[in-house]
Amino acid sequence: MSSVPERYPSLIHKAVKILNEGGLVAFPTETVYGLGADASNEAAVRKIFQVKKRPHHHPLIVHLSTMEDLPKWAIDIPEAALKLGQAFWPGPLTLVLKKHAHVLNVVTAQQQTIGLRIPKHAIAQDLLKTFGGGVAAPSANRFTHISPTTAQAVYEELGSKIDLILEGGACQVGLESTIIDMTHEPPVILRPGMITAEAINRILGLNVIYRHKMTQRVPGMHAVHYAPTTQTRLVQTDEMISILQNLKSTDLPIAFLVRSPIVFPHSKQIIKIQMANDATRFAHHLYHTLRTLDHQQLQSILIEAVPEDPEWDGIRDRIFKSTASRNEAS
Ligand code: TXA
Ligand code: MG
Repeated sequence: MSSVPERYPSLIHKAVKILNEGGLVAFPTETVYGLGADASNEAAVRKIFQVKKRPHHHPLIVHLSTMEDLPKWAIDIPEAALKLGQAFWPGPLTLVLKKHAHVLNVVTAQQQTIGLRIPKHAIAQDLLKTFGGGVAAPSANRFTHISPTTAQAVYEELGSKIDLILEGGACQVGLESTIIDMTHEPPVILRPGMITAEAINRILGLNVIYRHKMTQRVPGMHAVHYAPTTQTRLVQTDEMISILQNLKSTDLPIAFLVRSPIVFPHSKQIIKIQMANDATRFAHHLYHTLRTLDHQQLQSILIEAVPEDPEWDGIRDRIFKSTASRNEAS
C-alpha cells in the first residue's frame, strides 16, 4: 500500500489532540461524514452549532466506540436497546435513551434524552477508541444542506472553518443512520434509514412505530432539509415520461434521476442519470449524485419516485425532504 498506513496513526493522534483542545474534527463514518467535538466540552460543542449555522434546538448524536460506554451517557437502558445494539452496532443505528445527569444540555438541546451511536467505519472507530470519550457529531454540512459522503464534500461545505478533515473515502451506506427512540413503548422510529423497521422488529419481536405524529421533535423536520440548492422535484414515472415528451427549450439543462428503463431523446437539455434499482446501491450514490449535479448550472433536478417497499423508507424520506418547497421552510 501507499504511505498512508505510516502517516495514518499520527493523523489520528493529531485529531485526538484537536478534540482534547476543544477543536473540531470531521471524520468519516459508514453513513455520512460527521463534524466532531468533545461531547464533554461545552465550548467545543457550541462551535459545531456556529460552524454549521444550526439552530440550538436540534440535539446532537454522541458517538462512542463501544457499548461498554453506554452507561456513562444513558440511564435506565431498556433490554430492547441492548438487543438492538448487539444486533446492529457498530453500524448505522442511533438509539435515543434517557440521558445521564452529566450530559451537557447543549448536546441534547435541553431534552432529557440523548442520541447515541457506535459507528462502524475503521477511522471513526480508531478515532473514538484513541480519544476515549464521546464525540458529539452531526453531519458535516451546513444546516439544511445535503450531508457529505466524501472528504471533498466536507471541504466544500465547511472548508477552513474546521481544524482537520480525516479522509476516509466514500461512505459505504451514504444515508444518515436510522434513529429509534427507545424511551417509548413500543419504540418509535424518528428517522428511517437503511436499517429498516422490519429488521428492528425481527430483533425485538414486536412492531415499532414508524413516525410519530409530530408530538415531539422529529429529526430533519424542517420542510427543507438534506437539500440541493438547485430546484429539485419528485416525479412519478408517468409524469417523467410526459415531461420528456413535452420538453420545451429551456436555457439550462434538466437532470433526470431515473430507475426505470425509460428511453430518453438525445438532447443537450437533458442529463440522464441512471440510478440503481437496488435500495442499497441507490442510497450509496444518492447524495454524491445530487451534490455533483448541484455544481452544474441546471434548471432543475427531477427524481423519479422510488418503490414503497420498507427498504426504501430512508431513501423516500430524504428525497421527500430534499424536494420540499423552500417556501415551506420555517
Ligand atoms: O448517520 C448519522 O446519524 C450521522 C453520522 C455523522 O453519525 N449523523 C447525523 O447527525 O445525521 P445530524 O445531527 O445531522 O442528525 C441527527 C438527528 C438530528 O436531526 C437530531 O434532531 C436527532 O438526530 N437527534 C439527536 N439527538 C436526539 C434526541 N435526543 N432525541 C431526538 N432526536 C435526536
Ligand atoms: Mg444532518
